[in-house]
Amino acid sequence: MRDPDKIEYLDHVGSSAVGRAYKRHLLGLLNPGPGDTALDVGCGPGVDLADLAARAGTVIGVDDDPRVIAHARDRHPTLDLRIGDAHRLPVDDAAIDRARVDRVLHQVDDPTAVLAEVRRVLRPGGTAVLAQPDYTTLAVDPGDWRTTRAISDFVCESVIPNPAVGRTLPRLARAVGLTVRTVLTTAPLFDDHTGADRTLGLTRNAERAVVAGALDRAAADAWLAALDTGPFLATMVLVVVVVANGS
Ligand SMILES: C[S@@+](CC[C@H](N)C(=O)[O-])C[C@H]1O[C@@H](n2cnc3c(N)ncnc32)[C@H](O)[C@@H]1O
Repeated sequence: MRDPDKIEYLDHVGSSAVGRAYKRHLLGLLNPGPGDTALDVGCGPGVDLADLAARAGTVIGVDDDPRVIAHARDRHPTLDLRIGDAHRLPVDDAAIDRARVDRVLHQVDDPTAVLAEVRRVLRPGGTAVLAQPDYTTLAVDPGDWRTTRAISDFVCESVIPNPAVGRTLPRLARAVGLTVRTVLTTAPLFDDHTGADRTLGLTRNAERAVVAGALDRAAADAWLAALDTGPFLATMVLVVVVVANGS
């Protein structure tokens, strides 16, 4: 089964009811003001840029994928969107008042180095919101929990480079000298099978696990058949951390 197109996928997540509530929550924590320069690290095709631009004076988006930056530039021609690696942000020292890093650190080679970069670009007193799912915590009903765990284990071991980085954020942030202001955990509720499948990739990951030999076909088929038999619930822990450069 093919991976969904990245831009379509990120647009879908950002516009779903669960995604909108999550992003509103992060924006409230970030709380940019009209005099602020805001940075979106790993901005993707720009799902959050319009909301940032509505509140901050200046918005900079950085992503290492030229295709998503091209899309973001088409959508937001007046914003400052840069192709660059989060390990070496193309941003001056102490240039940023508010930074957001939303679901990026699970993909990077060295999350600590990225957080050190966030600290470097934040002005003294500047703040950042870091947000990460803990991909090891997927819960789904109906469907046998052992099969859910087998699929989740496969994804965490073989697909996502840093699946549990969310729980490490407060520790890593302190290690690079950021002050941890707030640590929150939340768990979005998916109560419809189709929406959960699109966001969490349930069918796709079950099929991948079978192809990789991590799950047998019969268990995957039984699990997938159970998913749309009636009331549905899926959830996953998200860790959200507000940090500051200085006290
Ligand atoms: C799951 S997407 C999240 C995008 C966006 N933050 C959002 O919430 O819609 C992760 C993004 O991080 C970018 N990314 C991954 N590793 C990166 C790196 N080392 N430097 C810059 N961007 C990176 C990817 O290209 C992708 O657009």
